[in-house]
Amino acid sequence: MLLQLDHIRKGFGNPGDPAYRVVLEDLSLEVEEGERMAILGPSGSGKTTLLNLIGGLDHPDEGSVVFRGEDITRYPVREMDRFRNGQIGFVFQFHHLLPQCTLLENVLIPTLVRDRSDRDQALGRAEMLLRRVGIWDHRDKLPGKLSGGECQRAAVVRAMINAPSLLLADEPTGALDRENVEKMAGLLLELNREDGLTLLVVTHSAGLAEKMGRTLELRNGKLVRPK
Ligand SMILES: Nc1ncnc2c1ncn2[C@@H]1O[C@H](COP(=O)(O)OP(=O)(O)O)[C@@H](O)[C@H]1O
Ligand SMILES: [Mg+2]
Repeated sequence: MLLQLDHIRKGFGNPGDPAYRVVLEDLSLEVEEGERMAILGPSGSGKTTLLNLIGGLDHPDEGSVVFRGEDITRYPVREMDRFRNGQIGFVFQFHHLLPQCTLLENVLIPTLVRDRSDRDQALGRAEMLLRRVGIWDHRDKLPGKLSGGECQRAAVVRAMINAPSLLLADEPTGALDRENVEKMAGLLLELNREDGLTLLVVTHSAGLAEKMGRTLELRNGKLVRPK
């Protein structure tokens, strides 16, 4: 078992306040190593909140997030940073590459906290991944000179640079045209099949969702089978 969420509750604001809102309520989920999972759900249903809890960017009010047997909600801040940097890759709807840095510099950013010998290794891995997604020739270009699809593939490389176990993708194809949706779906599938990467993908794309092994929908704070 890679991940186990147990009776998660998460609200925003102060309980008792009229603006208080419970977003996730008694939510449980188990994800096996190497699984591919799509999460559907309307805007505002709590999909991003859920990914943030799993990736250690936010804390649940109740319940546990257990990653390979360890409850990450109990980690102190530094331990949490180490967990996130080493185990989790994030891809968002917009690539969030730094516009003043080249593609290669951008994908190496998550490796800057490491020591020297690790960084040399990271350069080799960056080359391997950039070649694999077909943008190695663009490595010295700024993101502004590249297409949205190319930038999004660079964002996947950046997410993969520290060899995470789990990729959390939040509407990763939301800003792409059809051809690039296909390419992104193919790339994610390949990383799952060949590298054993576990995928948790929030998406509105039926094409992307159907390539995942399992699809759940977030409704009324819980994950349920889609209708
Ligand atoms: N930091 C926050 N503070 C207050 N409310 C938030 C915060 N983050 C999310 N919410 C609220 O939680 C609900 C779920 O948001 P979100 O997880 O972003 O939904 P989704 O990703 O499914 O669109 C929304 O009503 C949103 O306004
Ligand atoms: Mg969202």
